[in-house]
Amino acid sequence: HEIGWTLEMAEKAGFPHFMLKEIYEQPRAIKDAIHGNADVINAVAREIAKYDKIFIVAMGTSYHAGMVGRYLFQRLAKKVPIVEDASEFRYEFEDIIDEDTLVIAITQSGETADTLAAMKLAKKKGAKVLAIVNVVGSMATRIADLTLYTHAGPEIGVAATKTYTTQLTVLTMLAIELARILGTADEDYLDELEAGLKAVPNLVEEVLKHDGGIKELAESLVDKRDFFYIGRGVSVPTALEGALKLKEISYIHAEGLSAGELKHGPLALLEDGVPVVAVAPSGKTFDKIVGNIEESRARGAFIISLGDSEELGRVSNAFIRMPDMDELLSPIVYVVPLQLIAYHMAVLRGNDPDKPRNLAKSVTVE
Ligand code: G6P
Repeated sequence: HEIGWTLEMAEKAGFPHFMLKEIYEQPRAIKDAIHGNADVINAVAREIAKYDKIFIVAMGTSYHAGMVGRYLFQRLAKKVPIVEDASEFRYEFEDIIDEDTLVIAITQSGETADTLAAMKLAKKKGAKVLAIVNVVGSMATRIADLTLYTHAGPEIGVAATKTYTTQLTVLTMLAIELARILGTADEDYLDELEAGLKAVPNLVEEVLKHDGGIKELAESLVDKRDFFYIGRGVSVPTALEGALKLKEISYIHAEGLSAGELKHGPLALLEDGVPVVAVAPSGKTFDKIVGNIEESRARGAFIISLGDSEELGRVSNAFIRMPDMDELLSPIVYVVPLQLIAYHMAVLRGNDPDKPRNLAKSVTVE
């Protein structure tokens, strides 16, 4: 008889789109990433500890994860990897890669042509290759010397969500362990950070409760043509990722940039009502980004801020109150409202967020 359910509906578990389902799966996915890597992270960090010449290569959202990885490695382990998009890496660094090089490739699918080519080149030159991958048994895992899995489970939506936050989880675990091995950060602080990471799934759960308010915010922004996403330090990649999400599925022009760069050009584009999304967790440069918010506001920008300080409520048109956490953990949690903004904008504009035009889940050609 008529059951009124298609297989696809069943797979969406009551959510209207895979993307939304996957956004909501993040607390679970992050937990799985932590548990799934607990026993292997030390051995991999020991390997990384041997190298000073480290590259992180990836494309798209995975590239943004790599950028966050750089901040984590430099702040905690005092190692500064060069993060390069894999399509550039192959041509720019060919002569520099050798046996003393470690290449960390980040790829959800494990099938992205440019990332695989970068890995193959690294292997050919004698470098050690570590892959951080979601899809079990994918090509990247076969090329790499070492693989860490993100344990996010299958991601159907073209726009990466839970695979991003689990990549960040694995990178955070690696940076903490690396800092322990190298003795580059205070032990108690590292323990706190590790405990903080275990609490991240609950923080994401809390943030998801803002979904209704974020949808209303999206309704008020649906006709805007340009968005700017700003952040500082570890939040720069979050700004880039927020802008990418919006571009990919809502087809609205968006730019992500370091807040300090505003004055050097983009400020000329700010006029009445242009949305500026400020990713502003408390930390090293909080006062600086408040200054950037004020200078944008003075040009008439509509400020949407994400942070844990009430001060933001006073300088912003819309304020998304985030839970307190260490700044180094904030990229995992702060991207969630940005995913939701993009999702709701796409749906409101009549787009299918799961299948954006012109884009593929896995880009297997160069
Ligand atoms: C495509 C997808 C993105 C993804 C990128 C890299 O562009 O649409 O969501 O971030 O490829 O994919 P990978 O599988 O290597 O992480």
